[in-house]
Amino acid sequence: MNEFIYALPSHNRAADYRHIQVTPTTGAIGADVEGLDLKSLSEEGYAELRQALLAHKVVFIREQELSPADLERVTQQFGEFGREPYVKTMAEHPHVVQVVKEADEKAPFVFGGAWHTDWTFQERPPAFTLLYGHDIPPFGGDTCYANMALAYEWLSPGMQALLENLNAIHSPERAYGVGANHNALLENMAINFGNDTSADTRSHPLVTRHPETGKKVLFVNPGYTVGIEGLRSEESKPLLDYLFSLATSPAFTCRMRWRQGTLAIWDNRSTWHLPISDYHGMRREMFRTTVVGEVPSR
Ligand code: SIN
Repeated sequence: MNEFIYALPSHNRAADYRHIQVTPTTGAIGADVEGLDLKSLSEEGYAELRQALLAHKVVFIREQELSPADLERVTQQFGEFGREPYVKTMAEHPHVVQVVKEADEKAPFVFGGAWHTDWTFQERPPAFTLLYGHDIPPFGGDTCYANMALAYEWLSPGMQALLENLNAIHSPERAYGVGANHNALLENMAINFGNDTSADTRSHPLVTRHPETGKKVLFVNPGYTVGIEGLRSEESKPLLDYLFSLATSPAFTCRMRWRQGTLAIWDNRSTWHLPISDYHGMRREMFRTTVVGEVPSR
């Protein structure tokens, strides 16, 4: 076993709260939250929920009954709405994306179906994403999460020092650009793809400091990180490939099984997520919003 593993603190300890009950999902990340109704939760309750969210990085709030309008109100408890590029929002709810796959769709393909952090090519990527399970298949369609602060901590001091001075390049090209024809497989979502996305290319520090917890985070992801400033692609690709494979080690992740009425909220500044495409022939419908974050910094 690697010597550095012994130096890792436990990242996902249980804590007591007054207004909510919180049960960690794995040793790495995630927590189920119960004993609350988001539509009537007090200000102190929301403050505790934010604390739990920062501690566990993703929370799964069970047994809620939320319309898109309710979801908008809950979202605003965490900050201002983010901007949703490349994907059409609901006609009556300009901040809500309906993430839907119908039972009769031809391809076993899902929206966001690769490990990613949301919209990291934006100047201010989302701080939080909220995803509500409105219609959930009886099995399948889980979502996985990875803890990117824990992945950073696992690296050797030498590697950490090397990465801390670098800036990573983020682009929507692979996901939504000229060759991104996979989006045509999403028969019931309106995705804008097939155009030049170069205006949305942007660099951020490869290691960021989380603005609320102060922890360092490995801020690259397979969905949108396409290179490293100042490095040739022969140099950046093996480094990024290594970081991408490291972060998906089971010891840094959790897998959440949805139930109808679960609201997941993740801290987009310190996580990756991956929806699993294993429910072909079954319907899954989610409502999704984001909260705008800060400009990522060291
Ligand atoms: C997403 O990437 O926002 C979709 C996640 C999911 O459908 O589980």
